[in-house]
Amino acid sequence: MKGVILAGGLGTRLYPLTHATNKHLLPVFDKPMIFYPIQTLVKAGIKDIMVVVSGPHAGHFIRVLKNGKELGVSHLEYAYQEKPDGGIADALALAEDFADGGPITVILGDNTTDADISKPVKEFKEGAVVFLKKVPDPERFGVPRFDEKNPKKIVEIIEKPKNPPSSYAVTGVYIYDNKVFDYIRQCKPSWRGELEITDVNNFYIKAGKLTWAELEGYWWDAGTFETLLYANIYWAKQKGGEKVVRNITKILEL
Ligand code: G1P
Repeated sequence: MKGVILAGGLGTRLYPLTHATNKHLLPVFDKPMIFYPIQTLVKAGIKDIMVVVSGPHAGHFIRVLKNGKELGVSHLEYAYQEKPDGGIADALALAEDFADGGPITVILGDNTTDADISKPVKEFKEGAVVFLKKVPDPERFGVPRFDEKNPKKIVEIIEKPKNPPSSYAVTGVYIYDNKVFDYIRQCKPSWRGELEITDVNNFYIKAGKLTWAELEGYWWDAGTFETLLYANIYWAKQKGGEKVVRNITKILEL
């Protein structure tokens, strides 16, 4: 299994921070954000990785990640997405040659999680797997609608629904077989002008080939000021231990 990390985009929700560098290189406690999805892949045994970059700071990635060896990556490749606002599916299309006919595990570069995805990665055979997480604000994400008769079955995923049909977010962690590239070719730009990964997932649903698993553990996308702060606090607590927790608590009481 190969891995793809999508780290393009302009990060406009994080202006002015992202005027200086790409969102995925901003700090999350003691590491650049993109180290976390790389860790998730490496922990699952995926060491052949492509990072898709775009935007004015694309060159910064090489300075930070180099050839990936320091992070346990055995082969690191880069692709450049010409339209930074083309969408997740547009970025993923660039990984077709890299995938070389095989399956891929995809993680969005701003998704930090401590979940262990080794088992679904090892057991993957065909179709698509999406990872879900219960969240208080599903309207910010892709949200699954479950079959009324069979609550385990997803019948549709809706991107940023005004009235979310469930309290699950489709996280930015996916496993796809090679059909993904055909489905991307069939996608049309959405209302936000992007090729949506949600449309790709809906193609898999229509073909009866999408399964899901709940992402165990912590998950957050760090794409807004608030969630970037949460991600920092979570990882500071994990790595800094009791002392950091005490200090954060003290600051919050001020
Ligand atoms: C993207 C996807 C959305 C998914 C989210 C996870 O949203 O389109 O389906 O739930 O990532 O982080 P975006 O970050 O493009 O708003």
